[in-house]
Amino acid sequence: MLGGCAWDAPMTTVIPRSDLARAILPVYEIITWTAAAIALVVFVALAWILVRFRAGTGAPLPAQTPGHSLLEITWTIAPAFVLLVIGIPTIQVIFRTQEPPPPRALEVTVLGKQWWWEFRYPALGVVTANELHLPAGRPVVLRLEGPDVIHSFWVPQLGGKRDVVPGRSNQIVLTADTPGEYWGQCAEFCGASHARMGMRVIVDAPDAFDRWVSAQRAPAVEPAGPAADGKTIYARSACVGCHTIRGLSAGVLGPDLTHFGSRTMVAAGLLPNTVENVAAWVRNPAAFKPGVKMPALGLSDAEARAVAVYLTSLK
Ligand code: CUA
Repeated sequence: MLGGCAWDAPMTTVIPRSDLARAILPVYEIITWTAAAIALVVFVALAWILVRFRAGTGAPLPAQTPGHSLLEITWTIAPAFVLLVIGIPTIQVIFRTQEPPPPRALEVTVLGKQWWWEFRYPALGVVTANELHLPAGRPVVLRLEGPDVIHSFWVPQLGGKRDVVPGRSNQIVLTADTPGEYWGQCAEFCGASHARMGMRVIVDAPDAFDRWVSAQRAPAVEPAGPAADGKTIYARSACVGCHTIRGLSAGVLGPDLTHFGSRTMVAAGLLPNTVENVAAWVRNPAAFKPGVKMPALGLSDAEARAVAVYLTSLK
């Protein structure tokens, strides 16, 4: 119980920040308090019985009662009543969470991959990775798709988890209501680095969201100074086979890096996006993410640092 108590918990489920999370919370509360009340009755009764009816050693067998209609009817009806109390609001909320999106909803395609997230905004022409920007107050529909194995999209403060299943279209409809940064995590075991498949959701005020979209649609910035060396190294390395930087490379296996420097974290929410961390990641990705598909490229420390300076300059 103490392990669950943290004052500043970025993945709390009990401080909802979307309509979906606010709809789910009452169900959680009903179940938690119902279970707590039942546990209290059971443990108090058990303690009382243990003390009150304790027999000494060598006591004779107590009177046996074979069959007791009243008791049996009671312990059939009582659990059925409890299931009813839990079941009715649960089913109501399940239907609520399956409602179709309103027509003005912003559409985002969420692709769960081993072990990172791709976010595509088809109507806006924006593609990004591991950091999902959403406008506060506007309904969004997240279309969950997966090219490899089953993942699960979960941002606790924005609502319940939902599986990302290859070949199947799941969706989440929600309206985030409070600007801020929310942590998310893949919640379905998907391989060696499942635990390191995190994400951030940044809920922006509407005008800040529009500014973000414009910045993401802009072409990649042209580097100067040491970043230009990094660009040269990037362009002649295997990086170009897997990553897109618009105007420079068009790989699709790894995250789009056109505006890599605008993200706060690197490696799917694992490390702050600093030159040092990016350089260390480029030198040896498997040190951070066991099983990662990105190979170590054999760059020297100086080359890795130059690439990191370039990538972090791509705001
Ligand atoms: Cu993806 Cu666990």
